[in-house]
Amino acid sequence: MQHYLSMVLFSVDTADPKDVLWLRERGIPIDKMTTNPTSKSKVMKRIRDEEGRTVSSFDVVDMLLDLTDCPISVETLGTPDYRPETMDPDIFVQEAETIGKYDSRLVVKFPLVAPALVAARALEGMYPVNFTLCFSAHQADLAADYGGTYVSPFLGRIVAELERDDEAEALLRGIIEKYGKDLCSTKVLAASIRNEEQLMMAAKYGADVVTVPMNVIRDMYEAHGEGALAIIQDVRLRRSRRTVSSLWRPTYSKDFNYSEMQPWQRELLDAGVRTFLDDARSVGYSVLPKAA
Ligand code: E4P
Repeated sequence: MQHYLSMVLFSVDTADPKDVLWLRERGIPIDKMTTNPTSKSKVMKRIRDEEGRTVSSFDVVDMLLDLTDCPISVETLGTPDYRPETMDPDIFVQEAETIGKYDSRLVVKFPLVAPALVAARALEGMYPVNFTLCFSAHQADLAADYGGTYVSPFLGRIVAELERDDEAEALLRGIIEKYGKDLCSTKVLAASIRNEEQLMMAAKYGADVVTVPMNVIRDMYEAHGEGALAIIQDVRLRRSRRTVSSLWRPTYSKDFNYSEMQPWQRELLDAGVRTFLDDARSVGYSVLPKAA
């Protein structure tokens, strides 16, 4: 049995190298970065419009790797034509290998859908994985069972959809409690944070990582001036406490079961997958080299 007491890691939810410079100027720590097809496509468009050059999604990753020394989550797509219907475990595996072999600091981001779980099983923990687009306890169970290094519950999207903070809180607390009971090592990365309150809520319940978008960080600077840095430092000084069994292993034994999710959870998952794929398509984001 291993008990661990670690600080809440501060991740930045952006793919824009300019944001890294902005954060650095203010002395804001970056423990991790999370990117997704939406944030990547924004940067690719910005660079095209402002600098007149076309960059690939891996060019963006290169820029981030050059500027930081932290782990960076990079999203897989799992489909040759940006359609959820054609998501394929083999493509997820190839993309994961491309990302994982590219740089040891890259974390493979898999959407929490059935074909990605099949891929995770095939990879048997070869690369660190961040299971994203988590809206339900069922998905979080699967993320642990399939050896996720992280699971990313999307708190802000739940609050925005249901107009209820308590559902997002309940999901986060439920996952942290269940993982604690199961003694599993998957870490909880609180994602889709839309404001300071949600950030503080995630820190209060003991998320292992909080990923915070730039508009929230900027709003904190608007509201608190230089005091924003102290608030961020305070979040990092909070502790996430967990006990992990050294005997814990993923079993790859559970199946993705749509019926274990509520209709709104399924809708958010489907919409999230579609949005990421549409945004990826809009800039030709691809993880695998394009066929000639
Ligand atoms: C991070 O891993 C997620 O991709 C991100 O938090 C999504 O947030 P959004 O709901 O603001 O798009």
